Order: sequence, then structure tokens, then C-alpha cells
Amino acid sequence: MPAYAVIGGQWGDEGKGKIIDYLAGSVDSVVRYAGGNNAGHTVVNDKGTFQLHLVPSGICWPDVYGIIGNGVVVDPDVLVSELQEIGSRGIDTSKLFISERAHVIMPYHVVLDRLEEEARGKAAIGTTGRGIGPAYMDKTGRMGVRVGDLLDWDALVPMVTQILKHKNALITKIYGGEPISLDHVLTKCKLWAEQMSPYAMATEQLVQDLLEQNKKVLLEGAQGTLLDVDHGSYPFVTSSSPSIGGACTGLGLNPQAIKGVLGVFKAYSTRVGGGPMPSEVPDHEADEIREKAHEFGVTTGRARRIGWFDGVAGKYSQLVNGFTGIVLTRLDILDDFDSVKVCIGYNVDGKRIERFPANTGLLARCEPIYEELPGWDQPTASATKLSQLPANALAYVHRIEQLVGCKVQIISTGPRRDETIQVEPIFT
Ligand code: IMP
Repeated sequence: MPAYAVIGGQWGDEGKGKIIDYLAGSVDSVVRYAGGNNAGHTVVNDKGTFQLHLVPSGICWPDVYGIIGNGVVVDPDVLVSELQEIGSRGIDTSKLFISERAHVIMPYHVVLDRLEEEARGKAAIGTTGRGIGPAYMDKTGRMGVRVGDLLDWDALVPMVTQILKHKNALITKIYGGEPISLDHVLTKCKLWAEQMSPYAMATEQLVQDLLEQNKKVLLEGAQGTLLDVDHGSYPFVTSSSPSIGGACTGLGLNPQAIKGVLGVFKAYSTRVGGGPMPSEVPDHEADEIREKAHEFGVTTGRARRIGWFDGVAGKYSQLVNGFTGIVLTRLDILDDFDSVKVCIGYNVDGKRIERFPANTGLLARCEPIYEELPGWDQPTASATKLSQLPANALAYVHRIEQLVGCKVQIISTGPRRDETIQVEPIFT
């Protein structure tokens, strides 16, 4: 029963889209288990460049099932336009399925995301504004609408009528916003019911059936461990569980089915939105990496914050996920530096610590302790064999392995599928 997870080891944007697309050629299905269209996964292949937000990144392979599990929150308008866009570029979308248990991002969730952020003022999280937090709040508050609910019109109308009364009271009385009309919401629901019905099903059963037939299932993480609502730098996190635990609850998956857990790490750090990031460098120093690596959000276009590789955070991510291998991405971006730094500890309140603190105030006061390693004088870009890497680049890779406590299995040296070094086999 081989399931393999691909999980963001940092604050998201580690390059998971490329890795999923690369690995998907050897599996039978790719399954999203958390998050929603706050994610932006870039896939580059012979059909072009695709920026996927909801559709699993394996979709470009003709025989691979794409499954959206119960842990994902789905904005049907976004899904439909994404399917139309990739369909118009020659990608077969007929093997996509969506859990009938997945929650729907309703129009009031998007409005409330914006209003809540405005109300937070200086303490704003910097959400993607896609309604993700409010949708998960309603899920755990037992006030959510699920994909399966859209298909039961008689039960849906009184349910949505009741929920909208509550939401409009919040929007108008707490935030001073404009109410949303019931007609508008029900019209959307009617359309979405038609659009979603061909895809909706019991995906936990489908995944189980695939595993029983010994088919390989790739679990596609979105965001990253340090944005996990439980394990991340709370409250500057997303509202789901991108880490390995989320894969089980977000799919109805038996943990014993998971054979490998790949942690995807960028060779440096990036973060979008607010919240502490101990190894962040100031903007004028970050510009070189940001411009070279085009570190701007796929979903919102925001400039990403940049930092050196944080070994303390990496070790913590390993603790939470139990990675069986590391995928190191964007090594080539560091090609032109005379020296590179890695964060090996934090100084905080006069003490040295080597643990990622739970307290956000404490994390914000952490000063990085760096180790400086020599840069490499030959490019790693587009390398396909370990032997092509200069010795200093290899030493950098080994240092990351030591800090995280896990072996590197794949190194990505560019956006294309073939710009990849397969250090060790993944599917054993
Ligand atoms: P939300 O997920 O839209 O609620 O945003 C919460 C936080 O997670 C914000 O700091 C976002 O910038 C961040 N975030 C959400 N999705 C992603 C992602 O795919 N990559 C990087 N950061 C993300």
C-alpha cells in the first residue's frame, strides 16, 4: 500500500509543484489533502508553464488520477476556471475527483477574509485573501457547506439561509460591511452543484482502492510545515495542517499506508505575509536572490521575504514530519555567491537555543547564529548528476543534511523536469 508524501519543509513556496510533476510520471495518482487556492504550484513541462492553485500538480500526466481530498477547501469558481484553462491547453482533466466531504469556500468567506484582515490592522497576517481562514473556521465551527451538500438542494436551501443570516450579521454589525444577498449565494450554489457533480465522490474509498491494487499514490502538500496551524509560527500561519498529520485527516488515509515522506526545502528561506522569520535578511540584501529567483508569490504576486537556510527550523520540521528524504530545490540560485550562510542556532534573551520556539514573541526576538560556508565557482544550474556539482556545493548540501537530520534524495537545479539530480531512488 505505497503512499508517498511531498511536504513543504519551510514556509511554503519550496518548489513542490515541480517535484510533484517530476515524480508523478512514476505514480498512479496525485492527491491534495489540505489548503485551497491559497497555494500556487508552478509546473513547467513540454506543454508549457502551468500555475496550479487547486488542481493536483500531477494533472499533466495523462494516466494519473488527480484527487482533491476532504481536507481541502474548494472555491468552485477557481476550480472550474483552472480546469478550463488547462483543458484549453490540451491537458486531459477527466481523471479529476473531489471529495464530497471537502468544504466549499463560499462568497462570504472571501468577504470576511478581507474584513478580518483589515480589522487586524498592524497585526494583519497577510493572508492570500482567498477566504481560506474563514472557510476552515466554519468547518471546525460546524457551519460549513461541503461539496456533497451542494448536491442536496432541498437540505441546502434552509442550511445556507440560516448560515447567511449569521454571516451578514457579522459582516454588517461587526465590520460595517455590505450584506450579501441570499439570491446571489443560492444562484452560485445552483451553478456549482451542476459543475461539481461530475467530480464529487467518496475519495477516501478511491484512494483506498488504489492502494489495495498496489497503485502508487503521491500526497501533494500545499504551503509548508512552518505555516501549519498547530506546528507553525502561530498565529502567522494558514488555517490547515500542511504537515504529515494533515495528510491522514485530510484524506481519510490510514497512516500505515505512508511509505515515504519527502520534505521539500529550498536551499535558502522565503516567507510571504507577516510573522517572524529569524534568518531573514534585509530587503537590500535580499534583492539579489529575489530578482534572480523571481521570488514573487504565484497566487498574490507579493514579493517574498528572503533569508538564509534555517537549520533550526529545518530540524523542527523533521521532528514534526519524520521525513524519509529531503528534496533540495533552487540550489542554482546560490551559484554566484562568494560565501553562503546557514543558521545553526538562535540567540534569544542572552541565551543560545537550538530549538524552534512555540512562543511567537520569543521567535520574533531570536537572532540567527550563522555558519559561513565558501561559495562555489562553477554553476550547478541544470546539473543532472551529483558528480557535476562543485565540491563546495556538495559540502553545502551535506551541511543541510546534518542540520535537518535526513539524507537528500533529490536536488532540483532548475524549473524543468530534466533539471533534476536523483541522488537516491524514491519509490523502493
Ligand atoms: P491564508 O492561507 O490565505 O489564510 O494565509 C495565511 C498565511 O499563509 C499568510 O502569511 C500567507 O502568505 C501564507 N500562505 C498561504 N498559502 C501560501 C502558499 O502557498 N505559499 C506561501 N505562503 C502561503
